[in-house]
Amino acid sequence: MEMEKLIEEINRLKEERNAIIMAHNYQLPEIQDIADFLGDSLELARKAVNVEADVIVFAGVDFMAETAKILNPEKTVLLPTRRATCAMANMLTVNHILEAKKQYPDAPVVLYVNSSAEAKAYADVTVTSANAVKVVEKLDSDVIIFGPDKNLAHYVAKVTGKKVIPIPAHGHCYVHERFTLEDVERARKLYLNAKLMVHPECRPEVQEEADVIVSTGGMIKRAPEWNEWVVFTEREMVYRLSKLYPNIKFHPAREDFFCIGMKAITLNHIYESLRDMKYEVEVPAEIAERARKAIERMLEMS
Ligand code: 13P
Ligand code: SF4
Repeated sequence: MEMEKLIEEINRLKEERNAIIMAHNYQLPEIQDIADFLGDSLELARKAVNVEADVIVFAGVDFMAETAKILNPEKTVLLPTRRATCAMANMLTVNHILEAKKQYPDAPVVLYVNSSAEAKAYADVTVTSANAVKVVEKLDSDVIIFGPDKNLAHYVAKVTGKKVIPIPAHGHCYVHERFTLEDVERARKLYLNAKLMVHPECRPEVQEEADVIVSTGGMIKRAPEWNEWVVFTEREMVYRLSKLYPNIKFHPAREDFFCIGMKAITLNHIYESLRDMKYEVEVPAEIAERARKAIERMLEMS
């Protein structure tokens, strides 16, 4: 189907199903353009609490759609393709959490929302990259078990001064982990006037070079502070930023770094998802209830 026709059909089905499309900032441009709500993980979780539609088509990876379902158990949440998964979230198992708890029985378990619903059921509180520092600062403990991103764990430890135990020890996002100091050097040579905005999932040595270290939502908030930026995160963020701020220059630190899970979703998947009501996100009630407590605690604390 032609793009124009496809969009027309999506809009028709959206009305018929009383559906909305929520999308993460890393989605393909054509999906960003038709989304009813676009945001970072925290903004999407917050928005999910107040959705009025009956159906949420979630253009993002599985843990984000699960979070929307957990916060909206009575609504239908659809993930347009089952290939939309987060490799980092899949690195953390319940066993990692239980093992860490044995070693540090008094330490709270703080999980990045980039984790499965099952893992969240064992968390005291979840965080996103937008509020991790704030939440950890508020916790009444100087030792924190934190998973699954070792780089965000490093950032949180550095800012809060607390002891942060990463689980698993080498948990990371393969997209952000690939940025190196060579990319920083190249960016500085190519764009003499530019500042660097860096996602906290990047390695510590890349974080060290940043002018700002922020979530994707934070990048949107901080962008007006300068007129040219090199963006160290998934490449589609530059489309999002450039559309919002046509007078500011944004350069992807690496045009070739992208998230396979995010990019697995196409407009056609969204159309088919609305047409066939697939793939419905289900979270077992007992897991959902426990995970919801950890997510709600985050929303209260941040
Ligand atoms: P944000 O919450 O900053 O959008 O990050 C989500 C994510 O998956 C980053 O890789
Ligand atoms: Fe997960 Fe990395 Fe993709 Fe974000 S960019 S969804 S952390 S794999």
